[in-house]
Amino acid sequence: MKVLFMFIGLFQSSLTQDRTFLLSRQSFAIDLFKNLSRPESFIISPASIDFAVSALFFGSSQQTFMEMMTGLHFPKNYSMNMIQNNFMLLSRNLKNVKGLEIGTIMYVNESLTPQHNYKLTIQRVLNAEIESIAFAQNVQAAQRINSYVAQKTHNMIMEVIDQNAINSGITMILLNCIYFKGTWQYKFLKKNTFTGKFFLDETNTVPAQFMTQKTYFSFGYIEELNYASVLSLPYKNSDMTMLFVLPRKKDGLPSLISNMSMVDWSSIDKIMGEIEVKVTIPKFNISFEQDVDGTLKNVSVASREMEFIADHPFIFMLRAKSSILFIGQYTGDNSKPFVETAPFETTYIPDLNVSNMLNME
Ligand SMILES: *[C@@H]1O[C@H](CO)[C@@H](O)[C@H](O)[C@H]1NC(C)=O
Ligand SMILES: *[C@@H]1O[C@H](CO)[C@@H](O)[C@H](O)[C@H]1NC(C)=O
Ligand SMILES: *[C@@H]1O[C@H](CO)[C@@H](O)[C@H](O)[C@H]1NC(C)=O
Ligand SMILES: *[C@@H]1O[C@H](CO)[C@@H](O)[C@H](O)[C@H]1NC(C)=O
Ligand SMILES: *[C@@H]1O[C@H](CO)[C@@H](O)[C@H](O)[C@H]1NC(C)=O
Ligand SMILES: *[C@@H]1O[C@H](CO)[C@@H](O)[C@H](O)[C@H]1NC(C)=O
Ligand SMILES: *[C@@H]1O[C@H](CO)[C@@H](O)[C@H](O)[C@H]1NC(C)=O
Repeated sequence: MKVLFMFIGLFQSSLTQDRTFLLSRQSFAIDLFKNLSRPESFIISPASIDFAVSALFFGSSQQTFMEMMTGLHFPKNYSMNMIQNNFMLLSRNLKNVKGLEIGTIMYVNESLTPQHNYKLTIQRVLNAEIESIAFAQNVQAAQRINSYVAQKTHNMIMEVIDQNAINSGITMILLNCIYFKGTWQYKFLKKNTFTGKFFLDETNTVPAQFMTQKTYFSFGYIEELNYASVLSLPYKNSDMTMLFVLPRKKDGLPSLISNMSMVDWSSIDKIMGEIEVKVTIPKFNISFEQDVDGTLKNVSVASREMEFIADHPFIFMLRAKSSILFIGQYTGDNSKPFVETAPFETTYIPDLNVSNMLNME
């Protein structure tokens, strides 16, 4: 038993992405989130953009390559080889996460064919598919793309592209989708939901549905963020966790966001400890609703009790180990369904030099 476990441990550690890679992906994710900052609730998937954009990155010529290195927050001394190895490890690791499905696909106009080496690279590194498509037949093309997405998202998203957006002038469409369906390891019981006040700022409140439970969770305070509290809720039988970051002040979110880059999120778990926490979070529409009800694991009584009451705007991150797959903020607006701001990174590339990716006759 022990020997087997050690073997698994070694095996896993040999598949870990290096620290430079983790830090660069984290810095890209936080920067992107800050750039898209707005008052309303929103969610983005930096990992999805990573997968789609790196498919282009791997086929870019020298000039574009250097620009993309900077744009993607890779250090200048980092090699393409290192980047590809790390992306390969990341996509392999994510493939083994229960409940998580990732699809990366490149649709190439039928008049063009991908170069052999390029095709091999994105298949090997990103586990991506490449398909030939007739963009001139826009109705069929839209149908095909939309049904790919519908299948990957279990019919949660039925239309990602309109037929009118497709025409024969398009060289390729690059698409990535990440779908995750998880169940909380410690479920919130329906009987423990209640209507309370959610603070939009110091004084104004809106009524909101809250769910609550008291269990042992990983919890801590982030010094660099004025001791904002951080809580990690694990998903059942999975490497996935949802991290919640709550500012101390009711109106503290903008200031917290502006300081987020100061924190090493990839080792945030090190400042957190297992402790009994009374968790209260609003119900909002991502993956929370389906998790209500069920049985709560009984835990022993804690010596010290902590509270995590998310009754004012906060940040959440869906993580696979320490990789940020989704990052969002919840600010109390619950009128519209909570969907990703840019659900799928659909990239049209009208003026990119594709000569390293496609055979140009
Ligand atoms: C964020 O915005 C800055 C300034 O416009 C830009 O330089 C940077 O590349 C952006 N970062 C991301 C990840 O979009
Ligand atoms: C790149 O440079 C940084 C310092 O700027 C250094 O810490 C890191 O080890 C270097 N990485 C490689 C792969 O040379
Ligand atoms: C796409 O393929 C069609 C032929 O089906 C061709 O007429 C068109 O020029 C091609 N477009 C591009 C951007 O290559
Ligand atoms: C953000 O940083 C500034 C300057 O260091 C500090 O005054 C402020 O309290 C910080 N805010 C948060 C929420 O961390
Ligand atoms: C989530 O969305 C559904 C449908 O859009 C809606 O019926 C439900 O009330 C929403 N739940 C919350 C907590 O906003
Ligand atoms: C939960 O654990 C406490 C303390 O060990 C015990 O008193 C209580 O009866 C348990 N509850 C259930 C439902 O098992
Ligand atoms: C595209 O890149 C290729 C090889 O990297 C180069 O030979 C060609 O001149 C470039 N084309 C344009 C329009 O820049």
